[in-house]
Amino acid sequence: MAKFVAAGADATITLKSKGETTKVDLYSEEGYELLAGLWTKLTAQFRRQYDISWLGVPIIQFPEDIVVLQELIWRVRPDVIVECGIAHGGALLLYATVCEAIGHSHIVGVDVEIRAHNRVAIEAHPLSSRIELIEGSSVAAQTFAKVQARCAGAQRVLVLLDSNHAADHVARELELYHQLVTPDSYLVAMDGAQGQVYDIPSGQRAWRRDNPLPAIRDFLERHPEFENDGHFTRLKATSSPDGFLRRRRREEMPARDAAGAGVVAGAA
Ligand SMILES: C[S@@+](CC[C@H](N)C(=O)[O-])C[C@H]1O[C@@H](n2cnc3c(N)ncnc32)[C@H](O)[C@@H]1O
Repeated sequence: MAKFVAAGADATITLKSKGETTKVDLYSEEGYELLAGLWTKLTAQFRRQYDISWLGVPIIQFPEDIVVLQELIWRVRPDVIVECGIAHGGALLLYATVCEAIGHSHIVGVDVEIRAHNRVAIEAHPLSSRIELIEGSSVAAQTFAKVQARCAGAQRVLVLLDSNHAADHVARELELYHQLVTPDSYLVAMDGAQGQVYDIPSGQRAWRRDNPLPAIRDFLERHPEFENDGHFTRLKATSSPDGFLRRRRREEMPARDAAGAGVVAGAA
């Protein structure tokens, strides 16, 4: 039986770890932030994001992110969606579900290794007609050229980066794939939460520095045509903090930066 937990208006949370004590009111912004941060750590520790499927295929995402990803696709209505790092393909099928409802869109999934059983499951799925798979490293010139060709002429391109989450790899992906993202669409750099869960019992100290967040910060400093859109991380429990990067429309750009705001999807 689910257990009732008393937590009235006077409730506080006290967290003790490594000699530090944090105490906040539960029903406050700080309380929400603290609990969401702890929820993220618990989800990672218990690996619950590996325990979810979408229409029968494993998807490696937090439930909160699954909800906002469908919002994102519904809002952007992309002609082409590119995902780097597909694993079993559950996220591809999530995107395909929304695209099917919109009646629109081609989905390109890139992975350095597409295992035979995953390919069979994706290709046998009722939504497979919207999905194309490309095997190769996302940062290899040949792979990028193939993806770029699929985006040629598209009016709206959405890109999601969920492959190798090492900072230097994410930096290379951001630098390559931002070129494909059309104005008012998004470049989503996933799994910045790696930098927030390094201290969980099963975590790795190296994640503290080696995670997508420094790459995202550096990218935004050099690319004023993109902005971090907090709308898609408002649920706070997310594996992609600061990861939803919207490409500004040309008219939103300061005049000195406007030259970099235009993009032709798939242009060399
Ligand atoms: C976190 S999983 C992707 C999860 C998937 N997006 C989902 O939501 O279910 C990461 C995937 O990235 C792939 N990967 C790792 N390095 C890569 C690279 N250089 N290029 C493309 N894919 C890569 C791995 O093979 C793995 O399948």
